[in-house]
This record gives sequence, C-alpha cells and structure tokens, in this order.
Amino acid sequence: MFEKITVVGAGNVGATAAQLVALKELARTVVMVDVVEGVPQGKGLDQWESAPIEGFDSRVIGSNGYDEAAGSELFIVTAGLARKPGMSRDDLLKTNAGIVKTVSENIKRVAPGSMVIVVSNPLDVMAYVCLQTTGFPRERVIGMAGVLDTARYRSFIALELNVGVEDIQALVLGGHGDTMVPLASYTNVGGIPLTQLLAQERIDALVQRTRSGGAEIVGLLKTGSAYYAPAAAAVQMAEAIVKDKKRVLPCSAYLQGEYGLKGMFLGVPCKLGRAGLEQIYQVELTGEEKSALAKSADAVKQTMAVLG
Ligand SMILES: NC(=O)c1ccc[n+]([C@@H]2O[C@H](COP(=O)([O-])OP(=O)(O)OC[C@H]3O[C@@H](n4cnc5c(N)ncnc54)[C@H](O)[C@@H]3O)[C@@H](O)[C@H]2O)c1
Repeated sequence: MFEKITVVGAGNVGATAAQLVALKELARTVVMVDVVEGVPQGKGLDQWESAPIEGFDSRVIGSNGYDEAAGSELFIVTAGLARKPGMSRDDLLKTNAGIVKTVSENIKRVAPGSMVIVVSNPLDVMAYVCLQTTGFPRERVIGMAGVLDTARYRSFIALELNVGVEDIQALVLGGHGDTMVPLASYTNVGGIPLTQLLAQERIDALVQRTRSGGAEIVGLLKTGSAYYAPAAAAVQMAEAIVKDKKRVLPCSAYLQGEYGLKGMFLGVPCKLGRAGLEQIYQVELTGEEKSALAKSADAVKQTMAVLG
C-alpha cells in the first residue's frame, strides 16, 4: 500500500472514492480535502468509524487545507462543480479550470513527486490544466474517463446479452463526452467479437446509450451527477498504480504525437503501473473510427481554446 493518498473534493465522487481507497487499503492514510468547513472532517471521521466493521486499517481524515496532504504519493482530484440538468460539461469550464488550477498549485507545493488522477470535468481539459500548472511529466498526470465510459458500455452489453460483465472487454477512445468513440471492432464477449452476437443496429443503440450515459444519470437524479461508477473507475486506476498491476485501461493521456495528435489530453489505451502512465498503445482504426477520433479531438481543442 501507499503511505498516503489524498482525494481533493469531498463531494459525491470524492467521498465515494476515498471510501473505496480505504476499503481496498490502497494507502495507510487517506486524506480528503475540501473547501467546505467540516464536511471533509465529518465524512472522514464517519468513514474511519466504519473501519472496525469493515476491517480496514486505512486511516481516513479530512481537512480544509493541504498540510495533511503533504507527502502524498497519489492525488485523486474531484474538486469542482458537478453538472446540473440541462447544463453541458463545457458550461462548467471556466469555474472548474480555476478550481483545478488552485488545487494543482497546492499539489505541486506539498507533494512535488506525486501522481495525479484527474476526475473533474470537462475532463480532458482539466487534466491539461493540471499538467500545465504542476509542470509534472505526463506519466504523472492522468485523466479518468475511459474506464467509466467502457464500464457503462460493458454494463449495457451485459444487460442486452444477459451475460457476466467481467467477460466483456471493450475499448472506448476519444474525449469524455458526446464525441467519445466506442470501438465495436475491439469489443468482445469472452473472446467472441460483439459483432457476431449482436446486430449492428443494437450495437449502435448501445453505443448511443453509452455516449449519453452521464446525461441519463443526471436526468434521473435531477440534482447532481453520477458518482458510484465514476468513483469506482478512478479507484481502479489508483489500484493499478499502487499495486503496479500494469493494467491496460482507457485513460485520458497527454499526447505527444500518438494518433497524430499532440499538446492535448485524449482517451487512449494506456498501461498503468507504479510509474503512472507507462505506455500508450496505438491501435489500428478504420477510416470511420479515425474521423470520429479527429472529431472528438477537435471538440477537446475547441474547449481548450475557450480557456485560451
Ligand atoms: N471524469 C468523469 O468521468 C467524471 C464523472 C463524474 C463526475 N465528474 C466530475 O467530478 C467533479 C465532482 O463531481 P461530484 O459529483 O463529486 O460533485 P460535488 O459537487 O458532489 O463535489 C465537488 C466538491 O468539490 C468541492 N470543491 C469546490 N472547490 C474546491 C476547491 N477549490 N478545493 C477543494 N474542493 C473544492 C466542493 O465543495 C464539493 O464538495 C465534477 O467536476 C464532475 O463533473 C467527472
């Protein structure tokens, strides 16, 4: 286990992620940092009081500052505002960019050798803000989106085919949002290509449901957005790093020429281990998939341009 993992933002995603980090004993100490007085402390104490029942020995604490986070090996950044119904991810852009910048300055100050998993939206751009602000190498700043998007896709395929979720492998590329690119050709069920199990129109329908997976939850909840699956996704990435599992997961990574793109974050297949982002895999794409990826990259670039 790590000595210390800090989750910034003790809201729905952050608090759920902190609880999962503690339950999985990924760190000796789990710190939650939030600007709201009492909330990270209260949630931290409440989670710690569940330790004797759950049997974990990760000490959970909350704070409104970064002193307790000093020396953390890993940060999970969930600070920011969540989407409200009818609000696009891009509406959140400027507010969240300011928040992520402040958070990143503090991370750099108290833990200059740490790694960061960014969760705050709009994801690909917030990861960029974090990379720019910390000045960390790309191996140490990774965005969470693809693990969540593929989990949604896999969960829908499992419902459709009435099969176990674990046997479904899928790959989703591109930006986190409406332009994400699920690759049907890289999706299989226990090794059987999805295209042999489902008609194209059903695959298209599941892809569409995946694309609007976040909005579907927002529409149901009315206030706030999804957090159980997003927190689980961020913690799966954290676990791959802490346990040096060398897992191959779709993550938002800073591209330096891969897929013909550079100077931006985009969802690509990555190897995650103790060094953070250890490798980016470049997979073969059809012409249609290439143009969908280019369109997705353009959408991320446009959002970056809004921030200047
Ligand atoms: N990448 C993804 O796939 C994904 C999925 C779900 C949610 N998200 C994003 O994650 C973020 C958090 O979502 P949520 O549902 O937990 O929202 P939330 O409103 O429940 O929690 C956000 C928390 O951030 C805190 N905060 C605000 N400014 C802060 C600062 N400067 N420092 C520390 N904490 C600060 C708030 O007080 C709040 O407690 C949102 O931006 C949301 O859009 C991303």
